[in-house]
Formats: sequence, C-alpha cells, structure tokens
Amino acid sequence: MAVAGLEGIIAGQTAISTIDGKRGVLTYRGLSIHDVADHSSYEETVFLLWFGRLPRKAELEDFQNRLWSQVALPAETADLIKQMPGEANPMSLLQAAVSALALTERRVSEDIKSEVPASATDLLVGQLKSDGPGFTMSNPLVQKAIRLTAQMAPLVAAIQRVMKGLPLVEPVPGKGIAFNFLRCMTGSDPDQALEKMFDKCLILHADHEFNASTFTARVAAGTLTDPHSAVVAAIGALKGPLHGGANTAVAKMLLEIKDPAIAKAWVKDGLEKKKKIMGFGHRMYKTEDPRATHLRRMSEELCKKTGKEYLYLLSREVEAAMLEYKNIYPNVDFYSASVYYCMGIDLELYTPIFALSRVSGWLAHILEQLANNRLIRPEGEYVGPQNVVYRPIEDR
Ligand code: COA
Repeated sequence: MAVAGLEGIIAGQTAISTIDGKRGVLTYRGLSIHDVADHSSYEETVFLLWFGRLPRKAELEDFQNRLWSQVALPAETADLIKQMPGEANPMSLLQAAVSALALTERRVSEDIKSEVPASATDLLVGQLKSDGPGFTMSNPLVQKAIRLTAQMAPLVAAIQRVMKGLPLVEPVPGKGIAFNFLRCMTGSDPDQALEKMFDKCLILHADHEFNASTFTARVAAGTLTDPHSAVVAAIGALKGPLHGGANTAVAKMLLEIKDPAIAKAWVKDGLEKKKKIMGFGHRMYKTEDPRATHLRRMSEELCKKTGKEYLYLLSREVEAAMLEYKNIYPNVDFYSASVYYCMGIDLELYTPIFALSRVSGWLAHILEQLANNRLIRPEGEYVGPQNVVYRPIEDR
C-alpha cells in the first residue's frame, strides 16, 4: 500500500542530521542545533556537515580560506545574470543562475562515481571512524562543492540587484559568506551585529534531514548527474509554497494583518475558511521547531532595534492563536520572515536566501549519496484501469 507523501517511510540512511519531532530536537552530525547555532560560524557548520565533525583551528582557517577565495562570480556568469529579466520569479532566476555557473565548471569526469574515494563510505555513513582519508579537500567533487557554496552568496545578491535594476556588486575575497551576501545585496559593508545574526540564520537553515528539496537533490545525485544539476533540481523543490516558499508568504501575511489587536480574529477567520496559515505546521515536528526558538529571539531583538516591535507582537499573537485553535507550532519560516524584514531584505529574496544556506546541506547529502550510491527508484502503486482494449481512432 502506498503511503501518501511517504509519511513515516524511511527512504535511506544518513549520518548528516536528524530530527526528533516529538521532543523538538535537531542535530547536525550528532551536535545539538542549539550548540551549533550559538557557538559556530556558518563556515564551521559547512565543514561539520560535509566532513562529519567540527574542524580543528587550522582546519577551519584552511577551509575558510578555500571558501572565501572562491567567492567571486566568473565573469561569464555575471554577464549572463545581468541579462536576465528582473521581473521573473526569483527562484527561477536562481535556477538559471546556478545552471549558468555550471557552464563555467570543468567537467569533473564523465564518470562521477570514479571521483568518489572508496574510503568515503566509512567517513560519511555511520559512525565517524577516523579522520580520513574519505572525501579530502582536493577531491574534485569537494572542490566543486566549495566553489558553489561560496558563489551562492554573490549569486543570490546579484538576483536581488537585477530585480531592482541595479548594477552588480563585487564580493570581497577573504571575507565571510554572510558578510559578502549582505555587501553584494546592499552595496555597502554590513555592521558586525547584523552580519553575525545573518550568519546564525544561515546555520539554522543549513540542513534538515530528508526534507523535500534535499531528497530531490539525493534522487538527482543518485543518477550520477553532476552536483550543479542536483542543486538546480533541489532549488525547484524548495521554490514551492509548502516548502521554502512559505517564508515570503508569512511576511505578506504579517503585513496584511498589520495590527496585533486583530491578529487572533484574522487567524480564526482564515482557519474557518480552511486556509493554511503560512509558517506553521511540520511533517516531523509535533512540538516547537528548535530553529524557531532562535529565530523568535532574533525577531524580538531586531524588531525592537529597528522600531518594528508591532511585527514581533503581531507574530506572537498569530502564534498564540495557532496554538489555541489548532495546537500547531511555528516552523522555521515563521520568525525568519520578521527577521529578514527587519534586516531590510526584500520579501521576494527570502526563499533564495533559504537556498543560499541550504546549498551546504544539499551538497553534504549529494556527497553522502554518491559515497554509497544506489539509484533511487521506488515503485508506484498502480490504481489505473487494466486490460483496456485499444480502439482505432475512428472507433473512439
Ligand atoms: N495552517 C492550518 N492548518 C494546518 C497547517 C497550517 N499551517 N498545517 C497543518 N495544518 C492542519 C491541516 O489542515 C491538517 O488538518 P486536518 O487533519 O484537519 O485536515 C493537519 O494540520 C495536517 O496537515 P497536513 O498538511 O496534512 O500536514 P503535512 O505533514 O502534509 O504538511 C506542511 C506539513 C508543512 C506542508 C503543512 O503544515 C503546511 O502546509 N504548512 C504551511 C506551509 C509552511 O509553513 N511550510 C513550511 C514548512 S517548513
């Protein structure tokens, strides 16, 4: 019997992240998301997701240098982005831009599998047994992953600039991903507190087990396609309003409600009309999403700091109403909407920003899939007609 939405089905093994939806726990490589979010940087998190453990000091410095030195967009990609129609859907622009980046990549090999070291299996699936070999920094697939992760920052910012009809801004090599995204988006260097907060948002969105876009990436990688193609497929899945598209919808909803005093009635009315309230509910979490805990705190701080406290109060009212009427908790998208809004980021960029962070998780899963690959090809339960007699066209 087919299970709708594959709910509860274990579709494969992973050692990257795990969710305990009953207890509201998320771990990256066994570490609590709370510890990672409070103490790591995004770059350190990427190392953790890809290589299975936190880096030592020298390893982190080396990894940061590798990422930060690759942050510039190839001139051909920047030229193509400048010609893209600014009025198009931002996620479609992002898909096209990542495909444009792929055009500048040397073909790693006709046979992707031959780039996967045999010893990677031990490192990436199951317990971390040793410090390597496995996927090393010089592996061609890891090199691609480094380039793509670094280039996503100026790429997403470039989409924003194109949408506004503004010239692209060059990133600064040697600066972090959060810094360069904010700089390339606004045209000026961000203040440190803002950079730190944005960095935390990147950590919180980096990976989330077998979510729809990650599973899409794994299905694509399982055919032994290249990582850029798998990421383009994942961006397509993230675009949907039931997945990453929810954060923009949350911001629109909050701006429509405007007044905290009417929030409860607005939610009640929406629920009576069988509307889904965006930013709430989750297939896995039946209690608070641990990422929402951090984003709520950030929302409070930023809303107060930027004179938009009404937005935080309004969000709290919506949250209380959803708990009272449906016993449904906010997910990662709910408070990220007010956080990004207070950071001065345009609404239509919220989902591309999700991709800017999640690309590291997708790439971790692509490497893990390749390390133990078997083509992902489930079966469908056929419920259509049987033994139908074929009639020639003149008899139909
Ligand atoms: N608003 C109102 N009701 C909701 C809801 C929401 N945001 N999320 C779930 N529900 C209700 C459904 O109406 C359904 O109720 P019913 O059993 O009375 O019909 C029940 O909760 C189960 O929801 P369902 O959509 O079947 O759960 P799912 O596991 O298939 O979907 C989501 C999970 C995330 C797709 C779903 O909660 C949703 O659409 N949320 C809004 C979009 C969103 O925020 N997405 C970002 C996810 S990180």
